[in-house]
Amino acid sequence: MLDTERFVDIKRLASEVTSDIRHELALAVLEGLSKLPKGLPSRLFYDDKGSELFEQIMELEEYYPTRCEAEILSQQGLKITDYLVGSQQFNLVELGCGNGAKTILLLNAFIEAKKKFSYVPLDISSTAVEFIITNFKKEYGEIPFSIQGLVAEYFQGIKWLNQNIQAKNFVLFLGSNIGNFNKSIALRFLRQLWYSLNEGDFILIGFDLKKDLDVLYDAYNDSKGITKEFNFNVLARINEMLGGDFDRKQFQHQGLYNVQTGAMESYLISQNRQVVTLKELDKQFKFKPWEAIHMEYSYKYLRDDISDLAGGTGFEIVENFTDSKGYFIDSLWRAKK
Ligand code: AVJ
Repeated sequence: MLDTERFVDIKRLASEVTSDIRHELALAVLEGLSKLPKGLPSRLFYDDKGSELFEQIMELEEYYPTRCEAEILSQQGLKITDYLVGSQQFNLVELGCGNGAKTILLLNAFIEAKKKFSYVPLDISSTAVEFIITNFKKEYGEIPFSIQGLVAEYFQGIKWLNQNIQAKNFVLFLGSNIGNFNKSIALRFLRQLWYSLNEGDFILIGFDLKKDLDVLYDAYNDSKGITKEFNFNVLARINEMLGGDFDRKQFQHQGLYNVQTGAMESYLISQNRQVVTLKELDKQFKFKPWEAIHMEYSYKYLRDDISDLAGGTGFEIVENFTDSKGYFIDSLWRAKK
């Protein structure tokens, strides 16, 4: 392939079969509602409806992370591209592609700096990968770079890239998605990423910083109630896919800051003693009054935590890019081998 020839392609390494998704959901729910305290994994938020609700969250006045990161990428994008020297085409790999709105800001900087790259949206959901490509077509008309979509697990996808499109990698893990991981899972995840990268590869990670508790509280308990809907959608999904009889009126949503772990945590709290039946599992789950289901962690960071994570997993921090309020950091790391 000539490097002037552009292409748009999607490679499917993982397949989603509806029954697999149902089984995966059933297993997560069986485990999560049987354990004490009860808790569900936050990946359950993101079915089609949940992804749409998250888009709405990103537009909320109170949900500051999206705007802070957009400010960083649009105002400091060119400074970020500066670290990529040489004229070789590189892979701009995005882990967990959202709607692409923030990505476009960074891509525009790479285009302006005349860097050659192919954009690689990598997600386990083929809907997400197709969606972003459709959005880019709308945005650009003719897309001025190649796109190699990958439907795969993150590390499976990067391994495929290394074997099939050898080039320097610039990995994006934006939006403080890392906030869903606790400290040990974040360490594991980043070290695993390090293993799949080569010397000199870059990674740009979004971290939401510790800040005034009222700002945090409002961001996760918005006045329009979208975050509440985002949580209740998980119960609706369980009802629909697993024949459940969750009654949302019996639950209350609350986002709380855990001062000990430094995370915003989200809960659905049973207001009464009640029994919920899930036909698909042929099982009943008992709730005591005020018993909670833990729904999500959103860990908040200090600059020190970011240095510790980079140093502890084989990366060096190239530069921390922050917004005018100092609420958020996009941290640029280089893999040392
Ligand atoms: C997509 C994980 C970054 O934790 O801030 C937004 C999800 N949850 N509002 C976050 C979320 C409630 C979001 N992340």
